[in-house]
Amino acid sequence: MIMKKIMLLTLTVAAILLPACQSSIKNANDRRLDARVDSVLKLMTIDEKIGQMVLYSSDWDVTGPSLNKNYIDEIRKGNCGNIFNAYTAAYTRKLQKIAVEESRLKIPLLFGYDVIHGQKTIFPISLGESCSWDLAAIEKSARVSAAEAAASGINWTFAPMVDISVDPRWGRVSEGAGEDPFLGAKIAAARVHGFQGNNLADSLSILACVKHFAAYGAPLAGRDYNTVDMSKRQFLDMYLPPYKAGIDAGAMSVMSAFNEFDGVPATGSQYLLTDVLRKQLGFKGFVVTDYTSINEMVNHGVAANEADAGLLAIKAGVDMDMQGGVYAKYLKNQLEKGLVSEKMIDESVRRILKVKFMLGLFDDPYKYCNEAREKREVYSAAHLQAALDVAKKSLVLLKNNDQTLPLNKGQKLAVIGELANSKRDLLGSWKAAGEWNDINSILDEIKIYNGTTKVLYAEGCKKMGNDRSGFPLALSVAKQADKIIMVMGEDAGWSGEAASRTDIRVPGVQTELLEKLKTLHKPIVVVLMNGRPLDLSRENDLADAILEAWFPGSMGAKAVTQVLFGNYNPSGKLTMTFPRNVGQIPIFYYEKNTGRPIYLPDPKYKSRYIDCPNDPLFPFGYGLSYTTFAYSEIKLSNHILSPDDSITASVNVTNTGTCDGEEIVQCYVRDLVGSVTRPVKELKGFEKIALKVGESKVVKFTITPDLLAFHRLDMTYGTEPGDFKLFIGGNSRDVKETGFKLVQ
Ligand code: NOJ
Repeated sequence: MIMKKIMLLTLTVAAILLPACQSSIKNANDRRLDARVDSVLKLMTIDEKIGQMVLYSSDWDVTGPSLNKNYIDEIRKGNCGNIFNAYTAAYTRKLQKIAVEESRLKIPLLFGYDVIHGQKTIFPISLGESCSWDLAAIEKSARVSAAEAAASGINWTFAPMVDISVDPRWGRVSEGAGEDPFLGAKIAAARVHGFQGNNLADSLSILACVKHFAAYGAPLAGRDYNTVDMSKRQFLDMYLPPYKAGIDAGAMSVMSAFNEFDGVPATGSQYLLTDVLRKQLGFKGFVVTDYTSINEMVNHGVAANEADAGLLAIKAGVDMDMQGGVYAKYLKNQLEKGLVSEKMIDESVRRILKVKFMLGLFDDPYKYCNEAREKREVYSAAHLQAALDVAKKSLVLLKNNDQTLPLNKGQKLAVIGELANSKRDLLGSWKAAGEWNDINSILDEIKIYNGTTKVLYAEGCKKMGNDRSGFPLALSVAKQADKIIMVMGEDAGWSGEAASRTDIRVPGVQTELLEKLKTLHKPIVVVLMNGRPLDLSRENDLADAILEAWFPGSMGAKAVTQVLFGNYNPSGKLTMTFPRNVGQIPIFYYEKNTGRPIYLPDPKYKSRYIDCPNDPLFPFGYGLSYTTFAYSEIKLSNHILSPDDSITASVNVTNTGTCDGEEIVQCYVRDLVGSVTRPVKELKGFEKIALKVGESKVVKFTITPDLLAFHRLDMTYGTEPGDFKLFIGGNSRDVKETGFKLVQ
């Protein structure tokens, strides 16, 4: 009997390992994968199957409420097939060893982590990165992050976050790519390609997770986790494209969101997780919940208890329960009672095992646990260089009167503000394994660049609170300088998850200090660190130059310094609109015209505020350079666009300033009459070009009918014939304009 058991177990292992020898199957539809998955599935007990549907956090990092499970024991018993918040090659090896040597079936673990903008080498926050509009640089950032994560034992990142948002009160805008579906979709695809590479089995690739499905970026009043309520048309046209792009790019996992959608929490929504995700988008990977979002359906009020919430989730299409322990606790019993079928459970387990095969984990469960590689890869010179490159490209110059910037080297500078001397804040939220002790602050870098004796520093005030006792010293320091650089903004923890604000002005008494500094009549440069668009109306009045630095990452201080001194000419453009005040929110460039647009002659009865202009302080797509660019009128290859055809719109862009620079040329369209109302502008193309002083380049955009498609009155997706406007310019406001007709 004992002999028989040993033989069985040997066979078990062989059955799993055998197929893995050919683990580099790239295509999720490859039939051979199914055969391998089935060969494992048929050996599994129901407990082991449910174990694969369980994801627990280690005690290494906290990214939500703790459930205090003994995850090591659960791995050993085969009750937990996936771990998150555990990293380093050594620690993941220890856990993997328990899974593949001590659990009965020896199925390797997935190790997930929030590698959002870097593992140890931290890149700018995702919103900052998006302002580069540089898809190659963004992909590279994800690739480097994957390489460092993979070297640190991780094989799964909970990224990219692709939620569109038009509400800067919501702290999580820092994790996304801004307000625009077209740009957001391109960036989503670039990030998935970066994380997953060409082949998931490549040891430098990790599994991507498109999140948070869906519409998590539209909580009412910008309050995190709050209700989402929007029309399906708005959802499909404006919110879905980045999720779709991430899935089309091959992402093999998707995270269900915390929010409700049309009255149903996303984690229990068959519409979202089955109809849209699987049937419409053809998603082939597995769905993981967000942190305890099954359990939270009880609070939402769609399930009386956690067991019922679990039923809603599995029926909707959730394969894996993150941290909630609901599947672990109730699923077996529900199967026995006939409330769920084994087929449903098998389906989920199949999807999860398939990804484990695709990652090559059955082939070599320790492929991510190589300490020598970890030492070599993490913080390598090449990675730091990539972080510097992206950081420079992410910075957005918002104002530069009288050529206050760039600074001249050797001038006496007064650097003011707590954030100037902060290392922690440079990394932003979701800093993964990033360590601030290793990096330089903006003050450090300015001193290195300009010479310590030429840089005076005073904190002046903290980023929060109302202590003004440092004002006099800051003023006396500033008096001695030629120019003042005030670094101001938010604490890194003020954006990201659970960090919504009702007041999006610069916190504390920082702006009050700026007002005092203004009385000295010296040129003032404001460098901003923040994770969301802020109301900068006051700062815009006071400062001569404003550089938006976001939270720029490990190499961010150097990037800021290089831009301040003109070593790099800024080229970033905003991917979210900056309002004049919080009352304008939600604010975004693709608004509808309304029946009473503001340009009507009537002085009163139109869509406007009586106490503030309608337009934003800084529009979508906006950003200055140290040089200037002139745009010619637009030339169209044809003013008629036929189905199955295309037209080309070209514009000649010239560098008319005094230094070389880069410009992000943007193309927008407007569909003038539709069966449903259409936005006043929609981005349909962009290109970043480099121009030497005096140089001109022709930039061309190809317009095809599919770019003009939308959900029509009857909810079918397609185009409608008629007149369109076409705009090209350096931001969404300042554009050249022409028109064309789409015919049927
Ligand atoms: C909750 C967050 O919403 C999600 O983005 C993150 O991936 C998980 N916690 C895991 O940390």
